[in-house]
This record gives sequence, C-alpha cells and structure tokens, in this order.
Amino acid sequence: MNRDPSPPVLNMTGIFKRFGPTIALENVNFKLRKGEVHALLGENGAGKSTLVKILSGALKPDKGKMFINGQPFIPSGPMDSRMKGISMIYQDLNLAPHLTVEENIMLGKEIHKTGFLKQGKMRDKVVKALEILQHPGIRPDIIVGRLGIGAKQIVEIARALVDQAFILIMDEPTSSLSREDSERLFEIIGNLKSQGVSIIYISHFLEEVQHVADRFTVLRDGRQVDSGSMKDVELDDIIQMMVGKKMADMFPRVDHQVGEPVLWLEGFRGKSMKENVNFSLRCGEIFGVAGLIGAGRTEMLRSIFGLEAVIEGTLSMEGVKRKKSRPWTRIKQGMGLLSEDRQGEGLALSLSIKDNVTLSHFSPYSVHGFLNLKKQKAAVNEYCRLMNVKTIDTEQPVLALSGGNQQKVAMARLLHQEADILLMDEPTRGIDVVSKSQIYEWMGTLASRGKAIIFVSSYIPELLGICDRIAVFYRGKMKDIRSAEEWTIESLTAAVTLGRNEHSLENR
Ligand SMILES: Nc1ncnc2c1ncn2[C@@H]1O[C@H](COP(=O)(O)OP(=O)(O)OP(=O)(O)O)[C@@H](O)[C@H]1O
Ligand SMILES: [Mg+2]
Repeated sequence: MNRDPSPPVLNMTGIFKRFGPTIALENVNFKLRKGEVHALLGENGAGKSTLVKILSGALKPDKGKMFINGQPFIPSGPMDSRMKGISMIYQDLNLAPHLTVEENIMLGKEIHKTGFLKQGKMRDKVVKALEILQHPGIRPDIIVGRLGIGAKQIVEIARALVDQAFILIMDEPTSSLSREDSERLFEIIGNLKSQGVSIIYISHFLEEVQHVADRFTVLRDGRQVDSGSMKDVELDDIIQMMVGKKMADMFPRVDHQVGEPVLWLEGFRGKSMKENVNFSLRCGEIFGVAGLIGAGRTEMLRSIFGLEAVIEGTLSMEGVKRKKSRPWTRIKQGMGLLSEDRQGEGLALSLSIKDNVTLSHFSPYSVHGFLNLKKQKAAVNEYCRLMNVKTIDTEQPVLALSGGNQQKVAMARLLHQEADILLMDEPTRGIDVVSKSQIYEWMGTLASRGKAIIFVSSYIPELLGICDRIAVFYRGKMKDIRSAEEWTIESLTAAVTLGRNEHSLENR
C-alpha cells in the first residue's frame, strides 16, 4: 500500500555538536513520523546517543533546530523534555541506586498540584507498569542498587512507560535483557505504536532492529549516511552504510588446539551460587556458558575470581588447590575478569583510558620505582588499536567515550593483563557488529596462544560461532556441557529458556 507519509512528529535539522576536539555530530537531519519505530544505527562512537541526548534535553546542540509537530522545540533540560512528552531510556542506566524501584520510577513526577504526595496513586501506576512488563519479581519497595543489571533495565523501561510519552527514545534497551524480556518489550513497542507513539530505537542487534523497526537512519562519524524504509534494505546494506565496506565474516575462526586442563572446579560453590559446579577448563579452549540473565552465570564467574566467598568445594589450578580467593590473588595466579557491569565495577570512569588499561598490570612500566610513561603510552595505544577504541587521545577520561567504546577499554584492559585464564561476562555487550567480529577473532587468537577463556553470553549465535564447548546455566544450575558442534540454535535455546535438552533425549 502506497500511502503518503504523515508529516513528521519530530524534525531535527542541521544539528552540530562537538566535545572539545571531537566532532560528535555534523549537520545531521533526522525526521520521526507518528507511530513509527525508527532505528538509529551506526558504529560505536557514531553519534547516536549524542543525537538522542540533544532531543531529551540532556545536551545542548552547538547549532541546528528542532521542531515538534511543526513548532520550534528548545528543551531547557531533561525534565522539561519529559514534561513535554519525550521520554528516554538511557544506555548507561540512569537510576538512583539508593532509592527504591518505585521512587526511581516516580522521580520528578511525585508532586501533586496541591503539593501533597499521592502515595496510593503512585504505587498503582508503578505496579501497573511492572505488570505490563510481567515482572512481578521486581517489587516497588526494593532498593534499585540490589537489582541485577537486567532488572535495572526493566525499571528504566517501566519508568518510561509511566511517562505516557508520545516520543519514546530507547538507547540499547535490550542489551541486558533476556530473550523473553526482549520479546515482551517488542510486544509493548507494538502496542505503543498502535496508540500512535513514535519510537527511536538504538541497538547493535541488527536482526532485532530488522524485526522491530519501520524505518532507519544510519550515522557514520557524526554524519548522516542515509535514511529509509527498513523493508527496502538488507542487513548487509546497513552494515555497509555503517562502516563504509562489506563485512567478510561475522565469526572468523582462528585455528586453535585445546590442550590440558588448567582450571578444575569440583563441587565448587560461591556464596550467592544456588548450586555447586563441576567442570574443568582447558588451555587453548573457549568454553561458552549460555543462560538467561539472572540464571547464575555471573555469580559463578565472580566466585571463581574471588569476589565472593567460597562456601564449598575446591578450585585448582595447575593441579594445586587454590584456597585463598581474593581477586588480587587470582590476578597474580594469572586470572582476569571482564565484569558484566562495566560502569559499576569494571572501569574507573573519571580516570584516563591509559590508566584504566594498565590498572591491573602496572609492573612493565615501573622500573626501579620510576615510571616509563612512554612505554606505557605506546602499549596502551597498541591495545586500543587492537580493540578498535575510537578516541582522539588515551589521556581522555573513559567518561568521554561512547558506551561501546567504554566496553572496548574494559576488554583492552583484560588483554593487557596478559592473563592465562580469562573470565568474560558478556564481552560484546553494546559493541557494534564489526568490532564484535574483531573481538571474536581476538578470542580465537588468544586460544591459539594457549589461553583459556570462559565466555558467558546471552547471545546464542556468538556462542555457537566461536566456542569449543558450551555449558548451559538454568535456574542456578550448570548442566549439559557439550562440544559446540553438538548444539544447534534450537537445542541451545530450548535448554537455556526451558531447561530442556532435546539432544540428550535423542541420545538416550
Ligand atoms: N561527554 C563527552 N565528552 C567528550 N566526548 C564525548 C562525550 N560524549 C560523547 N563524546 C564523543 O562523541 C562521539 C559520539 O559519541 P556517542 O556516545 O554519541 O556514540 P554512540 O553512537 O552512541 O556510540 P555507542 O554505540 O558506542 O553507544 C564519540 O567520539 C564520543 O567519544
Ligand atoms: Mg551510545
């Protein structure tokens, strides 16, 4: 059906924005129609978050104009924009950790005209929003800081729903959501669309974008490359627009030999693990751990790394039981962890990129008490190049990087540590497709050098794409450790979501 497109709800024209020497946006035009889902796409650092932050009032443009339904729109700040019906789910969750779920959701909305708080009404709204998201487990009175990262993301979404906005901005809403939660979000998006809400949707999961979006705009290095209808383009075209070239292979395989075990866990259980685990990790092996967010995978990694007390069982390395379990001891024993929560505990955001990369492995630059700054800088530049970190200067604070580039710094630090056993919790979260495939290639290279990797991920294709063996975590229990070839997308999905393993039934 060929209908005339309706006039735009939002029209952003000639937007410029710079941060010191970085030009984040250069003459960008963006039109949003009523009731459409508009995907905003581009590599890490392309300018996506900057553009939507200008719309949400969190940033001011250096130049350019915005119009809402034809009227000039100049928000004085985020609250102003929100009051005018523009609501945003931030990429780097924007919640107050010491407040409850309810307080976070109602923040800024709680004052009634008369100046009194309307407690009962507020609670109803919060409960209703959480009901729509079907998350009865997240109670309004829980302190947000106690929730896992996936649950925090749900709270952000609930907050945006309570706003009843007519423009909803979602900056990587599903990066920490389980598959089920993502499906539910797509349903909600469908409902909102049918009510005429316009949605700006940012995501690095391009298959998901193809499924949910009506139109797209691609940014590259702060410039708008193209806009159009989603059904008229293939994913390959989108990738080409994003990076300026075709991508060869999403999952490049680097030849590697799996050798002897380097880490044994026997009846091993940390404080917040529901059940103990038994497995060994071999040198030159990429050992995948599939499971829903909240299934217990993160708790296992944290316990192995000594961030949680060991309650029972043993952990051995090189045939020796390692009783002391503090993170610092583990680092000295040759272990490294990439945390799932890069902002909370992964990175020191106000420190420079350089200091973050070298933080846990400083000795190469300290000679007789003197610091060899030149050597440090050269090494950091090299690791940032390997990880494709987009930055002008490694003296910049990590805070000044885009979300995906922050994650790459965390990866660069792990690589720089030169650990033999690498524990990676969702290493590709928020990372653009091309950089993702570079990370997979790196993981293969590390394995080819005899390193052992535990690779925790919720994204099944990447596990199947690069792992040697894959285990499933289901409701706190590790089960079904199999070689990757024995799994298919279907069997792994069933095992992860239903705890069912058709494969083992077939083999019986
Ligand atoms: N507060 C800031 N100070 C300095 N530079 C910044 C700041 N915020 C963003 N930038 C720079 O602006 C550019 C665009 O960043 P932006 O966050 O918009 O990227 P993005 O497209 O959202 O990337 P990602 O996919 O990684 O989230 C990047 O080069 C980034 O380093
Ligand atoms: Mg961003």
